[in-house]
Amino acid sequence: MAASSQTMLAFVLFLLNFQCCWPLRLSVENHEEDVIVSTPKGTFTAGFTSVGENAYCFGIWFSSSSSDSKTVVWMANRDQPVNGRRSTLSLLKTGDLVLTNAAQFNVWSTATLSPNPLELRLFDNGNLVLRDQTNTTSVFWQSFDFPTDTLLPGQILTRFTKLVSSRSESNYSSGFYKLFFDNDNVFCLLYEGPQVSSVYWPDPWLVSNNVGSGNGRSTYNSSRVAVLDEYGHFGASDHFSFKTIDYGLLLQRRLTLDHDGNVRVYSRQNAQQSWSGNSNRNLVSFMEFVDPIASVVMSQRLVESVPVLKGIVGSIVRIGFKKKLKKLIMSFIVIGLNFLK
Ligand SMILES: *[C@@H]1O[C@H](CO)[C@@H](O)[C@H](O)[C@H]1NC(C)=O
Ligand SMILES: *[C@@H]1O[C@H](CO)[C@@H](O)[C@H](O)[C@H]1NC(C)=O
Ligand SMILES: *[C@@H]1O[C@H](CO)[C@@H](O)[C@H](O)[C@H]1NC(C)=O
Repeated sequence: MAASSQTMLAFVLFLLNFQCCWPLRLSVENHEEDVIVSTPKGTFTAGFTSVGENAYCFGIWFSSSSSDSKTVVWMANRDQPVNGRRSTLSLLKTGDLVLTNAAQFNVWSTATLSPNPLELRLFDNGNLVLRDQTNTTSVFWQSFDFPTDTLLPGQILTRFTKLVSSRSESNYSSGFYKLFFDNDNVFCLLYEGPQVSSVYWPDPWLVSNNVGSGNGRSTYNSSRVAVLDEYGHFGASDHFSFKTIDYGLLLQRRLTLDHDGNVRVYSRQNAQQSWSGNSNRNLVSFMEFVDPIASVVMSQRLVESVPVLKGIVGSIVRIGFKKKLKKLIMSFIVIGLNFLK
């Protein structure tokens, strides 16, 4: 099993040698073979992935031997899947990387232009980089600058980027939750549904920069950057930070704004492990909310209160319950006040 997957990997790496550079052309019909594998370790794979019946997206996922456990970390065309026939991703001579659908219309492109030949490289941190073939410090485009719902270790969330949740567990198109820096430099979560829109974290009724009765955030640092490191520390420029309960271990990690509006950091040892723990419960090393309900606010800092727990959600829920109840009552008061307005 391990040997065969290694042979497979070697084969794919061999393919990569003439698939990284112009003329590069990945075809949806050959989506099993037409992939780009990250170098040198093969941690990530980029290519076409199925998102529904005869619907494909170009994306990046954690390499895995079984296709059913594909964990997608980025997608180019999540809101506009392409047909399973005649769709292609091509690196044009002009320097543009384009995704065309069955009718040969451009569905997505990097909108790049270069007189010199470019190459497309996928690195082991999960970053897909379009760069000059000879002067490799000259980067024209990189997937890290255009996150979808996931932030990988070392990938910086900036004033220009945001995470947007998926619609549901099985539907990768853009959902209703957003994680970003607001105009006051505060790292926040927004629910933006068809009817209502509201910031639900940090607690909107708590003022910033007021430790104690405030939310502890600073509005003064305008750099607006946030990053998770590979050991499990997350820090944002508004002073929000946390360490995952497995902090310190060098693991595969991802911070995902899940379809339910919760922010979770998932970790695992390697591709052979699943992100889930025993008995089908997610092994989550950090999550921001115990049980978010649309615009009801429940900011629950789990990390400090759960030092040895290996992150089984069921246990976290019990620990967080009392606080949650208090917050719920608070929320109803606020909702009530809003009704009175
Ligand atoms: C995903 O959800 C969107 C929005 O509701 C919908 O238009 C699309 O058809 C769904 N995709 C799949 C594959 O079900
Ligand atoms: C390579 O690209 C970098 C970044 O665009 C640029 O600053 C540098 O001058 C280039 N080097 C050469 C030799 O062209
Ligand atoms: C603002 O935040 C950045 C990133 O966290 C940090 O490097 C910088 O020192 C901060 N600036 C101030 C004035 O605190």
